Amino acid sequence: MEDLKLVATAREIPAKVVTNDDLSRIMETSDEWIKSRTGIEQRHLSETQNTSDLAISVGRKLLAQSGWSAASLDLIVVATMSPDAYTPATAATVQGALGATNAVAFDLSAACSGFVYAWQVVNAMAKGSQLKRIMVIGSEVLSKLIDWTDRRTAVLFGDGAAGVLLEKQSTTAPFMLGQHWATFGGAVEQLNAGLTAPQPMGGPVTSIKPFAMDGRAVYKFATHEVPTSITAAAMEAGITVDQIDHFLLHQANARIIKQVAKRLDQPMDKFPININRYGNTSAASEPILLDELVQAGELQPGEIVALSGFGGGLTVGTIIIKL
Ligand code: ACO
Repeated sequence: MEDLKLVATAREIPAKVVTNDDLSRIMETSDEWIKSRTGIEQRHLSETQNTSDLAISVGRKLLAQSGWSAASLDLIVVATMSPDAYTPATAATVQGALGATNAVAFDLSAACSGFVYAWQVVNAMAKGSQLKRIMVIGSEVLSKLIDWTDRRTAVLFGDGAAGVLLEKQSTTAPFMLGQHWATFGGAVEQLNAGLTAPQPMGGPVTSIKPFAMDGRAVYKFATHEVPTSITAAAMEAGITVDQIDHFLLHQANARIIKQVAKRLDQPMDKFPININRYGNTSAASEPILLDELVQAGELQPGEIVALSGFGGGLTVGTIIIKL
């Protein structure tokens, strides 16, 4: 059989670090409040790099690491909720900058589930097609969408990008063991950013709206739907949740991750956390975490890893892969 194998990971993080104390100088908040409610201690914010700049840098690192030529790529998907523009797709800008002339490129919008959704989409596309070499990147400059007068959301988000190379390889056992995804469009108002409105003919171009979130509702959603999604993906994989070695959850809130671990009856050491250093980077959060673990040598060949995202839509998605 043939299946997509993870062959490389990379990340690009903007240099500027903004601590909770920095934020408490420009709004009514405190390090203690942010840390105790979310686990966030600092975030990186982009000063000059846009979403495609971060993604292009990730793409270059991935190619350098793998030794692949840009021309050998068949498909580039960028998961983002903060693209450079409505059009072109950020992925098209990445394709052009890399010189990946043979790759089809498009963006995928599923907020913080975007990276996992993108992996599922390319996995389905690769089956029975000529697609062999695929780049999936999660890239976000969420600071473009932050309302700095709204302390309820401004303290949560950060900027960054990371991605993976996937290659179709012959194998006796699959690398993609199981997956699950679900969308709850009845809850669109619980989390949104970049809302636009129709404008009268002849009027100026309407500006877009910053983040708006019902934090409590999203918290409740995540702590219920993520365990359900992981359990469903494990069932599809034909394994028990106990057999999963690492749970890489979207880094939105350390309390959510602890609650999910508790509901799944799994030890916290299976749930790596880096939200303290990055904040919530939406579609970039899981590949950043994955890359950190790969570079640190903490993931071993043959281990089973669940990646699970949740966020705007509302959306949730899980993939279970064998390294
Ligand atoms: N600093 C100080 N006080 C604050 C801050 C702040 N930054 N933000 C809110 N408060 C205050 C509120 O005004 C409120 O005060 P009041 O009681 O006097 O009215 C109090 O703190 C409690 O506010 P809540 O919003 O009820 O706080 P909560 O305990 O729910 O924590 C949080 C908020 C951290 C956002 C939590 O609800 C959460 O993490 N939710 C999940 C968010 C999430 O996971 N998002 C992921 C998806 S993101 C995506 O898809 C892009």
